[in-house]
Amino acid sequence: MAIPVLIDCDPGHDDAIALLLALASPELELRGVTTVAGNQTLEKTTANAIRVLEAAGHGQLPVAAGAERPLVREPTRAAEVHGDSGLDGPALPPARARAIEAHAIDFLAGALLSSPQPVTLVPLGPLTNIALLLARHPGAAERIERVVLMGGAIAEGNVTPAAEFNVWADPEAARRVFDSGLDVTMVGLDVTHRALVGPDHAEQLRASGSLGRIVAELLDFYGGFHREVYGFAGSPIHDAVAVACVAVPGLLETAHRHVAIECASELCRGRTVVDLWRRTGRAPNAHVAVGIDAEAFVELLVERVGGLA
Ligand code: RIB
Ligand code: CA
Repeated sequence: MAIPVLIDCDPGHDDAIALLLALASPELELRGVTTVAGNQTLEKTTANAIRVLEAAGHGQLPVAAGAERPLVREPTRAAEVHGDSGLDGPALPPARARAIEAHAIDFLAGALLSSPQPVTLVPLGPLTNIALLLARHPGAAERIERVVLMGGAIAEGNVTPAAEFNVWADPEAARRVFDSGLDVTMVGLDVTHRALVGPDHAEQLRASGSLGRIVAELLDFYGGFHREVYGFAGSPIHDAVAVACVAVPGLLETAHRHVAIECASELCRGRTVVDLWRRTGRAPNAHVAVGIDAEAFVELLVERVGGLA
């Protein structure tokens, strides 16, 4: 029985590849996609989600647009990483379909309440939609199997030295998700920065077909930022690691720990304060990714996305 999943995202290069990996993974049944402002405006992230699904031949999947700004903070973008379109690089056709009428949180609630079995939520952007879902539809929250999110870090930062972008963009939303009591898995930079897709794999994808070429062209653009800023020889496909965590659980090692979100400090805004050595005595509220079989993840990603028709 495939695992039913709902993906909330802000495409974004790695979100796009994560969507393709979800479609290419027989262990998963992607029930729908919701979008949030983050890497780019809501309008662009929504159009990008539709563009990617259509390019993969899955334009029939429902896409629902959600929050166009964080709960409290001013909206931010990551155009330096993903470009003005949010998916700079490939010449992806414009979206043909439109998002459904329903707001993302109402779509998520409907999908959760109508599902015969609990559904896994996979948030890949700022957690605004998930926080709003929990507040607006508490009954639907009971139909959530688990939340496997890309965000945070034990000992790293990317948007600031202290914080990872998804949590930094909406720390108040992240705090609500981590304090929700749901079964949360945090896939942070500690593992995503260790699983890079390099030039050889990009060429393998480029040669695999039209979709593989699109992914390679995404990596051409996205890799340039990571080469320049981090000196990486490859690209961290952050969001795809969260999808892989659901599809192939053995890829990641996790530790059950308490995670607090810093919302007061400007210097450390959005820090995920992971009690790795259990010094606070606070009850664990998340399964924090502490290890990854990087080679197996990259091979899985290239093989599955490269194999998409
Ligand atoms: O920090 C990486 C995360 O922020 C990824 O989800 C990326 O797509 C951006 O949203
Ligand atoms: Ca993302």
